[in-house]
Amino acid sequence: MSALIYPNTNLAATEQLLIDRGAGVYVYDKQGKQYLEGMAGLWCTGLGYGNKELIDTITEQLSRLSYTHMFGGKTHQPGIDLSDKLAAMVPVENARVFFGNSGSDANDTHIKLLRYYFNAIGHPEKRKIITRERAYHGVTVAAGAMTSLPANLAHFDPPFAALGILRTDHPHYYRGAQTAETEAEFVIRICANLEALIEREGPDTIAAFIAEPITGASGVIVPPAGYYEHVQAILEKNDILFWADEVITGFGRTGKLFGCETMNIQQPAQMTFAKQLSSAYYPISASVIRGDLYEVMVAPSAEVGIFGHGYTYSGHPVGCAAALKTLEIYERDHIYAHAAEMGTYMQSRLAALQQHERVGEVRGAGLIAAVELVDDKMTKIPAVELAKRATQICQDNGLLVRNVAGCALAVCPPLIISRTQVDELVDKLTLSINQAAA
Ligand SMILES: Cc1ncc(COP(=O)(O)O)c(C=O)c1O
Repeated sequence: MSALIYPNTNLAATEQLLIDRGAGVYVYDKQGKQYLEGMAGLWCTGLGYGNKELIDTITEQLSRLSYTHMFGGKTHQPGIDLSDKLAAMVPVENARVFFGNSGSDANDTHIKLLRYYFNAIGHPEKRKIITRERAYHGVTVAAGAMTSLPANLAHFDPPFAALGILRTDHPHYYRGAQTAETEAEFVIRICANLEALIEREGPDTIAAFIAEPITGASGVIVPPAGYYEHVQAILEKNDILFWADEVITGFGRTGKLFGCETMNIQQPAQMTFAKQLSSAYYPISASVIRGDLYEVMVAPSAEVGIFGHGYTYSGHPVGCAAALKTLEIYERDHIYAHAAEMGTYMQSRLAALQQHERVGEVRGAGLIAAVELVDDKMTKIPAVELAKRATQICQDNGLLVRNVAGCALAVCPPLIISRTQVDELVDKLTLSINQAAA
């Protein structure tokens, strides 16, 4: 056993699979066995493995300038170009961009930006953040407190009160609806709960509402029609900012450029990006905020002498170069359109699994989906052991998927996946569920 402390792993059962190399949508273990990477790693390798152009770009940037920082206004061209490129893409008004290294630290940055902003406009009391049950926003101390998955909270004692973290309902109709409640009634009820929470806490104490447009780690929850329209109206009425965590849903994953577009979220004040921003060829994240929020931070920073937040690797030149090239390839090679087409095909093929006696729900959008397994369709009792077994059998059959939300299997393949490879994914998934259920 090595000295490694494994992330998000049962520490009593480490070292399960040693991945050695990757090519296209496939990875290979030490023995040379091929696996279709049905999860794009951790929802991140949009362009798959071994992309020569990206490797060359990274290598060239390493040779030219392996590192320079961005403190004190030092800068470099890939950083400037990437921020301008992103600002032009996002549905955020006059967007400003702060770079980090991970989705978690980008969410932490947002929390600090919110405090800075509300202090600057003389409302230091407006700092609570509404997150949702079953949310996943990372694992740093602050972002981790906005995450709601039990396994990420247990034994860590996150500082919820200090950070002013409030929780409202998750928008998963299949699991959250009351008996005989329609989708529309479910939306009205959970939105009424949100309004009641805001009323109880006082809108003047709440800065923002954070949401993954479509969730990932909590089981790929696609909220019912009308949900985000209701939520946005409530937030607007109460002067609370909408913060879209697009760490998974950004850059073509849900069939549109951003999850906000897929889910009809209009002009969020803040957005978080990581993962597919660089197709995971180099760690980089971005915290994007509305221009007017940024403008009022200028004076207080001048008063202090600096805006005292930033990481050694904020705007790492290699990460910026990798992200710029990734975005260029996405556009040039029509990857968004390809992902949308493959996504429609994957969803249509997965939908057939809905007939399976052990499948409770198939859900998703674009190239992200989950198949939720149950003991019985009527009682909806989660088939946790079956899901574990099916995940392992998928792996044995040469397909990597992820067991999420206890009883669901998530798939989220690289955006470059072909139709034949979608068939391989769905066929192996179906076979594995059948074998596990047998
Ligand atoms: C929606 C969302 N936000 C934030 C994060 C955290 O990103 P990272 O693991 O890069 O810190 C994740 C990671 O999966 C995520 O899915």
